[in-house]
This record gives sequence, C-alpha cells and structure tokens, in this order.
Amino acid sequence: MVNPVNDAANNPMDNPVLALLSTRRSVKPEMLVAPGPSADELETMLTIAARVPDHKKLAPWRFIVLEGDARARLGEVVAEACIAAEKEPPSPVRLDLERRRFLRAPVVVAVVSRTKPHPGAPEWEQILSAGAACFNLCLAANALGYATSWITEWLAYDKEVCAALGLAGAERIAGFVYIGTAAARPEERERPALSDIVTRWRPKEG
Ligand SMILES: Cc1cc2nc3c(=O)[nH]c(=O)nc-3n(C[C@H](O)[C@H](O)[C@H](O)COP(=O)(O)O)c2cc1C
Repeated sequence: MVNPVNDAANNPMDNPVLALLSTRRSVKPEMLVAPGPSADELETMLTIAARVPDHKKLAPWRFIVLEGDARARLGEVVAEACIAAEKEPPSPVRLDLERRRFLRAPVVVAVVSRTKPHPGAPEWEQILSAGAACFNLCLAANALGYATSWITEWLAYDKEVCAALGLAGAERIAGFVYIGTAAARPEERERPALSDIVTRWRPKEG
C-alpha cells in the first residue's frame, strides 16, 4: 500500500497538509472581509481548536465567539475602556477605531486561557495548551479557505474589556482570532534560519 505521507516526502508540496503549513501566513484584520465561515464551518473550526495536547485533560481554554451585532456592542465597551485607560481624552478618530475593532472581520473568536492548580500539569503547560488552541483554530480556518489573524492588542490586557467578556479572575485572553476571507494575498515574510535556532545536543567531552 502506498503511504501518502511518505510518498509526498519526495515533493512535500504534493501533500496538502504540508503545503498549507509551509505557506500559511496571517492576514491583517483590516484585510479580512466577508464571507466569513458558516455556522457549520465555525463549529468544525472550534472542534479542531479544542483538539490540542492538553496535559491531564483539563481543557485549560474556552472560546467566546464574537459575531454579528455583538462585535459592535463590544466595541462600545472597548471605546469606554480606552477613555478610562488614557490620561488625555482620546480623539474622535481613535475612539472610532476602538469602536470598530471587532468589526474588522466577519467573525472573531476570543480564546480564553483558564488555568487551575493541578499537581500533574503545571500552569505553564496549561498556558501553552491555550496557545496551541489558538493556532489550531487558525489552521482549521485556513484549511477551510479562510484567512486568520491571531492578535491580542491592548484590549486583551484591559480589565474592563475582560470583565465585559465575562472572564473570571484567573482567566486571560490568549488571543483574539480574527477570521474572514483575505482581501489580498499576503507577501512572504522572512523566517529565522534553521542554523540560528536548531542545535544538536551532544554530551560534554571528558
Ligand atoms: C500571542 C500572540 C499575540 C499577538 N498579538 C499581536 C498583536 O497584538 N498585534 C500584531 O500585529 N501581531 C500580533 N501577533 C503576531 C501575529 O499573530 C502574526 O503572527 C504576525 O503578524 C504574522 O506572522 P505569520 O504570518 O507568520 O502568522 C501576535 C502573535 C501571538 C502569538
């Protein structure tokens, strides 16, 4: 029997998974237009986002979907939080930008990291799992033909915004994943040379 993965090792781009992984790029939220995912597609994406390594099966993450009018309503909260956070009153242009933050893409998913003390799963590992959930969500959306942007911006760290989202004390935003159709194809960006980031461990001589 032909193993499709081994077969594709001759030309990795023949393997659709490798082709996606080796060419994917984020697309800025401003460039994410309609159409967004259907309800079924979003369910597929969230199901895959929840299928990440998770030490001790704690599900140390949850997802808040921001779609439709809710994006504008939450934008009002963001504008208020901006006024509260800034020393000088923000300009009308800035406030308009803040109001429209979540309107930049058809759907935004807030990925929430929720850790709990566990003797077998250190907090660090639970946080890493939330990062994996963010990226699995991006990859699932990308595989369905949508472009994504995993960002945080100041609002992820703002108490008022987090409270309005319903975050409990120990919960944190791991990322806002903006999902939509790419208005333009993003350019390539430089990646680190493997020689700068890969070493091979050897036992010390002597
Ligand atoms: C946790 C996290 C938060 C990020 N927050 C921001 C952000 O607030 N603003 C931003 O421009 N990029 C942010 N980024 C970077 C983008 O997600 C993205 O990786 C980058 O812009 C383009 O890289 P890519 O095309 O390889 O995905 C963040 C990345 C991570 C992992």
